[in-house]
Amino acid sequence: MPTTKIVVAIPGEETYSVRIGADVLAGLGKYLTRIPAIAKAPRLLLISDSNVAPLYLADAKASLKAAGFRVSEIVVPAGEDSKNVAVASEIWEAMAAVGLTRDCAVVALGGGVVGDLAGFVASTFMRGLPVVQVPTTLLSMVDSSVGGKTGVNLSAGKNLVGTFKQPSYVCASTAVLASLPEREWACGCAEVAKSAVIDSDEFFFWLTEHAGDLVAREEAVVSEAVARCVVFKADVVAKDKEETLGVRECLNYGHTLGHAVEKLAGYGTYSHGAAVAEGMRFAARLGAALVGTPVDFVLAQDELLDALGLPSLPWSAEPEEVLAAMKGDKKARAGAVRFVLPHDVGKWTVEEVADEVLLEHLAAWKGSKQA
Ligand SMILES: NC(=O)c1ccc[n+]([C@@H]2O[C@H](COP(=O)([O-])OP(=O)(O)OC[C@H]3O[C@@H](n4cnc5c(N)ncnc54)[C@H](O)[C@@H]3O)[C@@H](O)[C@H]2O)c1
Repeated sequence: MPTTKIVVAIPGEETYSVRIGADVLAGLGKYLTRIPAIAKAPRLLLISDSNVAPLYLADAKASLKAAGFRVSEIVVPAGEDSKNVAVASEIWEAMAAVGLTRDCAVVALGGGVVGDLAGFVASTFMRGLPVVQVPTTLLSMVDSSVGGKTGVNLSAGKNLVGTFKQPSYVCASTAVLASLPEREWACGCAEVAKSAVIDSDEFFFWLTEHAGDLVAREEAVVSEAVARCVVFKADVVAKDKEETLGVRECLNYGHTLGHAVEKLAGYGTYSHGAAVAEGMRFAARLGAALVGTPVDFVLAQDELLDALGLPSLPWSAEPEEVLAAMKGDKKARAGAVRFVLPHDVGKWTVEEVADEVLLEHLAAWKGSKQA
């Protein structure tokens, strides 16, 4: 089976490769022997979750051992609830107990939860060990495994504590996606759609043409979608590694309303991706009113999201409640709420939207749900 290798070059960081393909998990150990920061590691710590470990931990471990690595493992309960300081602390203790030293490395085998948690403990234990990302959800392949954001949640909000830690290597085996539940698949599709809209006409039209194949998990299309998203994200992160220059903010497209929907509907009611897709629909309409986004674009995006299994949500809330939820978001700054608004495919700006304007559009959004 062919594999794709993408080299991520971020100024001030070691370059790293993202290997994508159906069989790449089997080659994980061999690939790691070629990475100077990891090749001589006296021990690797595999971190996974309770859903992924029974499916893929043995294969990952066998590949690492066959390449000569000594391997320890730790499995955390699956789900967002594991992304907290208490679980991080248990992992730090386990790292100390198995005798990890600064020349060891961590391997994250799982979705974005495991990736963020493992990246966080790796970047803090002994002031930083290398981390390898082995993403197992579509979302983590197309988004969270690349770019170096790590973190845990606090009761006050998601991802409030974290670090920037670029991985030394990313191994995206599309074969493991076969076991991913439907809801998680659609979740990843929303991030693919977000990337395509922000990136370019070329990506957007390719995705529109292949939406059905992506939903059907057709291998060549899945690999290409992952590769396109990785190239897009690596480019964004290379321009704005730590989200200080306003470029990386584009990755927040659809998330301003999306986060509010997730919170107000009750976490878990709608998947993150379903909420982001709703946020993209809303942002496009806001764009049409505020920055001249063409109606054709709004409709084309609607059609793409429909085709990806991300329909408009049968849910709304009072405009004031939604506004308050948006203002509580970590990414909101003091004052007006900031939105990534698409002007068209591949063209966007971040706009501060005054409360009264936003309330008017949120009322229209609520009205559209009742029509
Ligand atoms: N670091 C970043 O840049 C970044 C970007 C986006 C999202 N995130 C974070 O990512 C997290 C969400 O990631 P996610 O959507 O991957 O969720 P997740 O890690 O919770 O995985 C979703 C579910 O799928 C299961 N699973 C994973 N792989 C599987 C497989 N191959 N087969 C069967 N089941 C499998 C998991 O056990 C879990 O139950 C959030 O915490 C979010 O904050 C981080």
